[in-house]
Amino acid sequence: MSAPAKGRPGKAAPAKAPKARTSSAGSPRPDARRVAVDALVRIDQDGAYANLVLPKLLERSGLAERDRAFATQLVYGTTRYRRSCDWFVERFALGDLDPVVRAALRLGAYQLRVLGTPAHAAVSATVDTVPRRARGLVNAVLRKVVDAEDAWPSDAVRLSYPDWILDRTVADLGSTDALAALESMNGAASSSERADGYVQDQASQWVAQAVGAQPGERVLDLCAAPGGKATALAQAGADVVASDIRASRVSLIAANRERVGLAPRQMQAVVADGLHPPFAPGAFHRVLVDAPCSGLGSLRRRADARWRIDAAAPDRLAALQRELLDTAASLVRPGGSLIYSVCTLLAAETTDVAEAFAGTHPDWTVDDVPGDPWRPWGTGALLLPQTAGTDGMALFRWRAP
Ligand SMILES: C[S@@+](CC[C@H](N)C(=O)[O-])C[C@H]1O[C@@H](n2cnc3c(N)ncnc32)[C@H](O)[C@@H]1O
Repeated sequence: MSAPAKGRPGKAAPAKAPKARTSSAGSPRPDARRVAVDALVRIDQDGAYANLVLPKLLERSGLAERDRAFATQLVYGTTRYRRSCDWFVERFALGDLDPVVRAALRLGAYQLRVLGTPAHAAVSATVDTVPRRARGLVNAVLRKVVDAEDAWPSDAVRLSYPDWILDRTVADLGSTDALAALESMNGAASSSERADGYVQDQASQWVAQAVGAQPGERVLDLCAAPGGKATALAQAGADVVASDIRASRVSLIAANRERVGLAPRQMQAVVADGLHPPFAPGAFHRVLVDAPCSGLGSLRRRADARWRIDAAAPDRLAALQRELLDTAASLVRPGGSLIYSVCTLLAAETTDVAEAFAGTHPDWTVDDVPGDPWRPWGTGALLLPQTAGTDGMALFRWRAP
């Protein structure tokens, strides 16, 4: 990680800034910044998902490998830092902006103020991405952004999050941990490869281990798609049922099962609503509820997620999580284990859900959870994204009476 540049709102990997190139005929060649602007317009205007639209654009871009990596860094970084970039840009570019101009200005501000790209490398190359008539405006605004002071109006603007995400995270984790978590989720996601070749975030691998699946046990993953944890449970030798409500996602489970060399008898993929599961009561030694959640612990993984999640989502999802957990409990055999995990950091979806479960299941006992790098969190454990460079996750375990 390079030293912070002047006015830099957070951390980002150092910029590699290939120059815009022009063919001998004068027509523009494939250029990472042009592709980035195109992607940013689609994400902003059409509501496209960054992780879906960018690979398609890169595919037909003709860009070399190194330029593809640079375009990816620009798109994901500018998307994460959209609010910080707008704070710089909107001081100098007033009124309605054409979508391409706005995207280019954000991209320029990201390079100048987050990546710390020198002005001589960033400004003219970014100006070249907009139509000729807009070049004067983009050049003038970006030249002002270079030296603009950065007395941030709030941590939410500095770290580039909606106010509600910052406020709720600070309220639940305390200011120091919350700001560090949000800052760390402005970086790129990392994953590691399991022995079977499946690429998965390390925190998810620890959750799968914490299920404690033993050879020959019947284990249910009630919210299983795309099958990351379920395949790990099957690799441990358990007889796994991997169910999910969405048929299209269940086909991902089946594809991943094949990819890691598991047979259908080792892991059945089933379409089922976890609130109305087609399984007999007490049928499983262990049930994992890796519940749908707001994903506020895995924002590194989805650059645009923070702008999509609505403020009511955590409480709405918490109601679903409680119901799924209650239903899952009925499927655990006497003495069996129930495991609840979510990739979010908010109390509403973690400790509050666990407390509600304990309240309605007083005869269930709290089971061990992993220690360091996890920290105690209510009766379970929490892994902050800054602690081990993973997704942020919470985990709870109970034993049936
Ligand atoms: C966090 S993801 C699961 C990730 C998965 N366990 C893994 O490790 O790859 C949550 C999943 O819950 C599923 N889901 C949402 N509502 C559900 C319901 N009522 N019943 C079952 N699955 C549901 C979603 O389709 C989504 O695939």
